[in-house]
This record gives sequence, C-alpha cells and structure tokens, in this order.
Amino acid sequence: MIIQDDKKRLFTLQTRNTTYQLKADQNGVLLHTYYGPKVQGGDLSRLIRFADRGFSPNPNEVGNDRTYSLDTLPQEYSGSGAGDFRLSSLELELPDGSYVADLRYVDAKLQSGKYTLEGLPAFFGSDEDADTLVITMEDAAAHVRVELLYGVFEAYDLITRAVRIVNCGDKPVRLRRAASLCLDFPSADLDFITFDGGHVKERSLHRAHLRHGVQSVGSIRGISSHQHNPFVMLCEPGADEEHGTCYGAALLYSGNFEASVERCQFEDARLTLGIHPYHFCWTLEAGQAFTTPEAALLCSPNGFGQMSRQFHRAIRAHLLRDVWQNRRKPVLVNSWEAFYFDYDHERLLRFAKESAALGVELFVLDDGWFGHRDDDSSSLGDWWVNEKKLPGGLGALTAEINQLGMEFGLWVEPEMVSEDSCLYREHPDWVLNPSDRPCTRGRYQLVLDYTREEVRDYIFQALQKLLDNANVSYLKWDMNRALTQVWSAALPAERQGEVYHRFVLGVYDLLERVRQANPNTLIEGCSGGGGRFDMGMLYYTPQIWCSDNTDAIDRLSIQYGTSFAYPPSTMGAHVSVVPNEQTGRSVPMETRATVAMSGTFGYELDLGALPEQEKDMVVQQIQAYKESYDLIQTGDYYRLSAPTPDGAPTAWLHVSTDRRTALLCVVAGQTHAGPPFRQVKLRGLDPTLQYRLTGDDTPWPGDVLMQAGYPLPMLEEYHCLRLWLKAE
Ligand code: DGJ
Repeated sequence: MIIQDDKKRLFTLQTRNTTYQLKADQNGVLLHTYYGPKVQGGDLSRLIRFADRGFSPNPNEVGNDRTYSLDTLPQEYSGSGAGDFRLSSLELELPDGSYVADLRYVDAKLQSGKYTLEGLPAFFGSDEDADTLVITMEDAAAHVRVELLYGVFEAYDLITRAVRIVNCGDKPVRLRRAASLCLDFPSADLDFITFDGGHVKERSLHRAHLRHGVQSVGSIRGISSHQHNPFVMLCEPGADEEHGTCYGAALLYSGNFEASVERCQFEDARLTLGIHPYHFCWTLEAGQAFTTPEAALLCSPNGFGQMSRQFHRAIRAHLLRDVWQNRRKPVLVNSWEAFYFDYDHERLLRFAKESAALGVELFVLDDGWFGHRDDDSSSLGDWWVNEKKLPGGLGALTAEINQLGMEFGLWVEPEMVSEDSCLYREHPDWVLNPSDRPCTRGRYQLVLDYTREEVRDYIFQALQKLLDNANVSYLKWDMNRALTQVWSAALPAERQGEVYHRFVLGVYDLLERVRQANPNTLIEGCSGGGGRFDMGMLYYTPQIWCSDNTDAIDRLSIQYGTSFAYPPSTMGAHVSVVPNEQTGRSVPMETRATVAMSGTFGYELDLGALPEQEKDMVVQQIQAYKESYDLIQTGDYYRLSAPTPDGAPTAWLHVSTDRRTALLCVVAGQTHAGPPFRQVKLRGLDPTLQYRLTGDDTPWPGDVLMQAGYPLPMLEEYHCLRLWLKAE
C-alpha cells in the first residue's frame, strides 16, 4: 500500500512487515526518512537532524542557513557536484561542459499495478498484486527530468525501483552514471554482505563491518559475473538467520554492475546500486529518455531467513514467467560431463536408452553437435548439425529420443562466434572490436556484436530453424567468456560508451524473441556455470546452471550462497561422477543426489556405465525427487547451518506453506575421530503439531524439534540424511 499525503508531499510505502518513507521538503529536496520494520507512519522527517557542519555547503534556496546541507541529509536519489560529496546516483555531462546534477521535486503519481520497463527484466504484478509510485524530479538548469519509479508488492515486502532520465532540453546530454537505487541509512553500524568467488566457486558469502570510505563490489566483465553477484545485503551486526534487521538489494541486470556502500563522516551510510560507470557514457539527444535496470529491495525485521523466503516467493510468483511457474520441470540427463565432445549418434542413443530405462525425462545434448566442433576451438555461430556425428540430423535424433519417452534438449551459445566458423568468415565485422586492434580471445572465441539488430536477427533465424525442425523442449543458453575490446562498428565514436549496456539489451531482446516464439521451451541460463546467475536472467530463463563445479561438498557452499536471494527451484544441480572431475573428491551417491535434489535436478554422467546397484539408486532418486518436487518448488526454505570447512554438518529444511510437511536434509563434512553428539534445531514448523519422521514410529512435537533440536545420528564423512516430517 502506498499512502500519499499531497499536502506534506509525504509518501509512505507500507508492506506486510516493513515501512519505507520519503518526503519532498520545503526546498523540493527528496528526503529519505525511514526504511525498516513496520511502523505506524506519520511524518518521520522528524528523525532527521540539522546541524552546522564545517565544509558541508548549503544549497542556494536556504541562503546562509548553515544547518541545511545536501551533504548531511538522507536523500532518495543523490545528485553530484552540488554539495553532496557522498556517493552520487546521477552524473551528467551537460552541453556547456559542466557535470552538475541537482534534482528537486516536481510531482508524484500513484498507479495501481506494477510499472513495466520496456526491453528490461522487471517484476510484474496486476492491480491486486502491486502499486506504483512515480515521483518526478527535475534539474531545471540542466533541463533534465528524472522519474523515480517504485513498485510495492505488499505481501512480499518487496519494493522495486527504477529510474527514467529524460533530456527535456534541446541539446544532447551525456549520462555518466545512473544508479537504479540509492538508499541512505541513519547509522553505519552495519555489516555489508556480498556473494563472491570465481569460476567453479561462485557466490560464497562474505561479511564485514562497514569501514569508513567506500566499499564496493561489481563487474566490468560485461556479464554479472562469477566474481561478484549483483545482490548485496546490509544488516545489523548481530543479525543472523532469525534475528536482526537486514536489507537485501538485487539488480535485475546481467551486465556490468556496481554495488557501493559508503560509511560517511557522520557515521551514516549510503548504498547505491546500478550499472557500473566503467566505460559507460550514454548520449541523450533532445527529448530522449534512458531507463535504468530495476533494483529489488527487501527488508526483513527477523533475520536473513525471512528475507530470503520473501525473495523466493516474490521471484516465483512475479518474476518467473509462463508455463514454468507451475509446471514440473523434467528430470534431465546432460551429455557434457558424460562425454564432453566425444560422441556420435550411436553413443548418444545408447546413453539415451539407458537413461530412459532409469526414469530420466529429458535428454540434453550439450556442446559439440554443430558445425565441425570436436573441441572448443571451432564452429560457434554455425548452428547447424554436424552430420558426420549425427547423420540424419537433429530431427532424426530427436524423434528417436522422443520414442524412448523422453523430451529432447539442446545446448547453444548464441552470443559467441569462433574464428574458425563460416559465420566469422562471412561476417568478420559482426564481432565486438572488428577494428585493427588485436583481439583478446577467451576460450578461443569472440563475442558477437549484439548491439546490432542484423546480428540478432541472423542468430534468431538460425536458432528458430533448429527449433522448427526438431522437437526441442529445452534450450541450455550458455555464454563462456567475458567481454573485451568493447567497440561496435555500428555506432559512432561518441556512442561507444553505450556498447556494454546495448549488448545486454540485445541479449534480452533475443531471449525474449526466442521465448515468445517458443513458449513451451524451457530455457536454462548458463555462463560457464553460474557467471550470469542474476534476477535479470531469471526473467527469461527460469532456471540457471548454478556452477560448473558439480562436487556435492563444494556445491553446498555454492547453493547456500545462492539461496540468499534465489529460490532452490531456479538452481540447476546435477549428480556427476566420482571422483569428481573438478575436485577429485568422492562423495556417496546418496549425498550427491540429496544436494542436487534441492535444485532443479538432473544427472551429468554416463548412467549406463554405473554399477547395477547405483542404477537402482537412480530409479529411487528420481522417484524421491518427484515426491519432493512440489515441496521444494513451492515450500519455504530454511538454512539451518552454514557449510563450514571444519566438518560440522550442513543442514537445510524445506517446509510446506501449511507447515504440515517438511523435508530435512543434512550432509556431514569432514569427520574426525571421537565426534561430538550433534543436534540440529529445525525452524518453520508448527510448534503445536506432532511430526512423524521417516523411519521413526514415535512422533516428535514441533516445539521440541525447534527448541531442543533433532539428535543427529553419527554420520560418516560426506554421508547424508534426508528425512520427511509429516504432521499427524
Ligand atoms: C560451460 C557450461 O557451464 C558447461 O555446463 C557446458 O555446457 C560447457 N560450457 C560446454 O562447452
């Protein structure tokens, strides 16, 4: 609910558990008065204090009132060059060469339903689900207007923000920075939590108390990246899974981003989140507008767990689209770790038959089926089947797979081209950096210039031809290198600062076209595993391959970190061989499955080569996964303990929304002789109910399981427990 008090120019965004308030003051400065646990409201600008602060200048409107400074006031969208020296949200380069951006309130409008953003991913919601507030600000001297868009999803405590910047003058204006979100906090006694890593080690949680100055994470790789995720948190120092106020902020964007927090001179803090200003410069001709990506904000008064569950619910209901919201995703087998590039028709068919016999529902043919690709050095861009490997083409193979009762899925990497490809030979100018500058290769490949419509059209047609000629019900959309020499032959020199962003818009455009032309095809996002695991991609690809690391023990940390913002149903997770190909570790089959089943489940190994006993286990696991599917997809997720290297078990719980059914998963880490007796305290159960646990005839009271905990059996190293709890 949005409460608008026009007289006071006061706007209160009330959600189920939180309140967010802003106010345009007598000078038209848009103040941020409060964001936190729900309060009754009223004018909270009384929380703001004024004092004469040396070296904090005073805007023209207040004359010589030395107690009023943009440098000290909490603001909704900070400018630059006008007396606020903290993180700026907006940086302009004006026709006269000046860089000042100084915004004042113009007006506000309320709309029911959620605003949409053309060409960009965004949470969606009908009149019943969400409300929109649009506040218009203006820098009159610059002739620039800024619309601040707020979407309020009351039931989920979710507030979305985006910004539209319009050049109302008659000369071009350049945008050097345009944050999606600016959020001021009255106290900097906060911890900053980020999710960082690299290829095969994505999204490890790192937590540090705010230091003075600016702390920031981001990506300048052209993708949201393995290294830092576009999701960050701020919280009270004592906050944990169940206690303390915490804030989560995500950018729905798959390119360069920057999340910065500044601990300022008076111990307040400011968070900004948006497109990274690195090599960013966008020209707005007279009358043109620029829209930032959307940011999603969520505050939980009761710790991280509640924040994550609200994000999960909101994403499932208002970000993932169409049929995949409510349809069970098939159990898949993927050829990559089974054969890499080493297969032919016969081998695939044998693999498919053996997989089908065990109950696998979707057969995914990964890299290596096109052009003349026998390794990763060629053929990207030549999206036609290699008839030497697959005589009869994809249509024939797909028909055979379908006859086995399985659906068929295909790997593609549409944003890339190999130098050894017909596409590159024909269109060498279709890559980024087709100039005389030597190119930088990544995995032997170059990046197509997706800012160009003709390039996207060509790839769309090539993909569509494949999809029209074979019954493909799943696409794995991969992306295996970062962007370098970011320069487009299609844009003039003064617009080269737009290429990074236009590339992302091009990717979204093509994904949307493919999605709309093939509404029943499930698209799984991927970028060398989890290099583009962000809410922007989730709008187009409702599941994303979480990591190229399939080691179940490493996956505990990767999936744990990912779960802070993203629901388990979006995390691609597969059982692979032991010893694991990335770590050399051997983990029991049950544990590999338990970990993978808490995502979108599949196998990535030659199932036919398994011993009979493990084949039986596969049959049982598929059955078990189907039984737990609804709970994992629609239920609430509780992190019961964090993965630790020292061997304490990692535990998590899926709980149904009516709290009558739950699934407890525990994985033991390294073990040592003489281990302690351990118990795990469950959460989210109904304390008044009695729960029957798998293999235990005596029911357990919910309050005992939550207060005293469930006594864990002695688990051997890397062994697991997967227990159902059913209320009597
Ligand atoms: C990277 C992906 O993450 C892998 O799963 C696999 O599809 C390879 N690319 C294929 O080249």
